Amino acid sequence: MDKAVVVSTVANGITLITLNRPEAANALSIQMLSELREAIAACKFDSSVRCVLITGAGEKIFCAGADLKERAGMDLSQVRKTVSLIRESINELEALPQPVIAVLNGVALGGGMELALACDIRIASETAKFGLTETSLGIIPGAGGTQRLPRLVGKGRAKELIFTARRVDAREAQEIGLIEYVTPADSLLDKALSIANQIVLNAPIAIAQAKFSIDKGMNVDLSTGLSIEQNAYELTIPTKDRLEGIQAFKEKRPPVFIGK
Ligand code: COA
Repeated sequence: MDKAVVVSTVANGITLITLNRPEAANALSIQMLSELREAIAACKFDSSVRCVLITGAGEKIFCAGADLKERAGMDLSQVRKTVSLIRESINELEALPQPVIAVLNGVALGGGMELALACDIRIASETAKFGLTETSLGIIPGAGGTQRLPRLVGKGRAKELIFTARRVDAREAQEIGLIEYVTPADSLLDKALSIANQIVLNAPIAIAQAKFSIDKGMNVDLSTGLSIEQNAYELTIPTKDRLEGIQAFKEKRPPVFIGK
């Protein structure tokens, strides 16, 4: 059986995670979630990984969310367990110390869109479409959608999208701040790689601390956020990479950061 999640190194320090069930719209089956969590854990503890890209196999679909066929045969307790598994997997992806770029090769619906919302940066092909379709299925977004979408696009727009279950195309998604870039399908990976390649040149501890500071600081009052930033900054002060940054500037050469 093919692996439901394929992990590959696409460039120095850049790992690509591919959701690989194209025959089932890359839907989040229990097997896929288990492999996804393994892939996330492997990245978390591998200091050679400096940026993670996540995409879907095929040209049409990033991820159609929960596996609705699998769901159909579940009792209530199995449903609760599976939703919890999706939630935890997405939270773990968001909590990775490395930046995660969603490379949205196509449709992202329900849990697929929630997965994209938990990434740090979203780039989509012109053919991509997005929707939190849960209310049309008698449920609500249960893996962060009601929380992460309003934080990205504002409360009113998030409510409109969740209440109507409407699907938006890539252009509209960019206009409302749901995604950062739209590219033609054939240059999607190049665009993602060009951003990732810039990220991996910078100091890994600094990037992890900047990510932590932004993520934790966005959800608290400004004064607490500024304290979080101060503590995060503090962790960069004793690093070799900070000294390397200063030295390289003095010597007018690019810095070589080692993540220490
Ligand atoms: N779970 C399991 N299987 C799914 C799926 C899902 N979430 N979404 C699609 N599939 C399956 C389809 O049943 C079909 O399988 P089949 O060939 O055995 O019938 C296959 O994936 C391809 O889907 P299909 O609908 O034929 O392709 P499409 O290109 O016309 O449309 C989607 C793709 C994703 C837009 C459409 O399938 C869709 O809207 N799916 C529902 C997604 C959704 O609402 N998810 C939210 C879950 S909370």
